[in-house]
Amino acid sequence: MENYLNFRDELRSRTDMAEEIIRKFLPKGDRFSERLAEAMNYSMTAGGKRIRPLLMMEAYRMFGGRESIVEPFMAAIEMIHTHSLVHDDLPAVDNDAYRRGKKTTHAVYGEAMGVLAGDALLNYAYETALQAFLYPDAETGRVIAAMKILANKTGIHGMLAGQSLDVENEKNNKQDVDRETLSYIYLNKTAALLEAPLMIGAVLAGAGKSVVSALEDIGEKAGLAFQIRDDILDVTGQEEVLGKPVGSDARNGKTTFVTLLGLEEAGRQVDALTSSAIRTLNELPGDGTFLADLLVFMAERAA
Ligand code: IPE
Ligand code: IPE
Ligand code: MG
Ligand code: MG
Ligand code: MG
Repeated sequence: MENYLNFRDELRSRTDMAEEIIRKFLPKGDRFSERLAEAMNYSMTAGGKRIRPLLMMEAYRMFGGRESIVEPFMAAIEMIHTHSLVHDDLPAVDNDAYRRGKKTTHAVYGEAMGVLAGDALLNYAYETALQAFLYPDAETGRVIAAMKILANKTGIHGMLAGQSLDVENEKNNKQDVDRETLSYIYLNKTAALLEAPLMIGAVLAGAGKSVVSALEDIGEKAGLAFQIRDDILDVTGQEEVLGKPVGSDARNGKTTFVTLLGLEEAGRQVDALTSSAIRTLNELPGDGTFLADLLVFMAERAA
């Protein structure tokens, strides 16, 4: 059994741990790159739930990982995620002025720096993950496999494929995005970056193929649920709690699971997907108590 009484306290303490790890890996500028480093760190330290590093740390622990090799990967996934947010908020994409309770990067540093700081975070993520090879406990095969997942789930086979179809649909002002297309968008723009940390944690711990593919499946369902919950919060959330604008999707004329199914049915989908993810989790070896609680938290969150 997991050794905790209260999930919220446990979540707080693990989030603090993840926060500390992420901060260790933040880039430092020199005389001429100081402003770039400042813009990168502005978004990285603005807050955020740190869900992806938490998922990775837990998958690593669950399958027997006890070393610090997971740490550069925890920082790297949060850098990639933050890069996706910085670029998602740009005027050319969702054009949002608030994120994580503060002005967005482009609103503070200008649009050009928003583009460049986002790029630099994506690149620095790989520089950071590569540091894993220097760890005394590094097993080359595992680190390479983890790097491959990180790259694969971020680009044309993952997050960026979803983001590009998302803006294409929006810019064409298509009101008729069907459910299949929307599912493709969500599975890529959001679920891919939740699958990756679960898979990477397990791979670094030495888990086998069947476990890693079950975790991919869990991440897929939980990720779809996560984005549908995000759509719901874009309608029903409170800006002060969310730390980002409410009504961004409506302003951009987006088709979402909420516009397609209505709030109630969208909520039912979140619950069904989360239950299904937890059923798969329960079939895996290892203690999945914290991970199951985390998946429920992700589905029920107010921010
Ligand atoms: C926001 O992700 C973007 C989506 C994929 C919906 P999070 O809700 O994890 O954002 P932060 O990291 O907590 O700010
Ligand atoms: C974002 O989807 C997914 C990303 C890859 C950033 P949204 O555009 O709905 O995310 P928010 O609501 O701005 O966080
Ligand atoms: Mg978007
Ligand atoms: Mg957005
Ligand atoms: Mg949203």
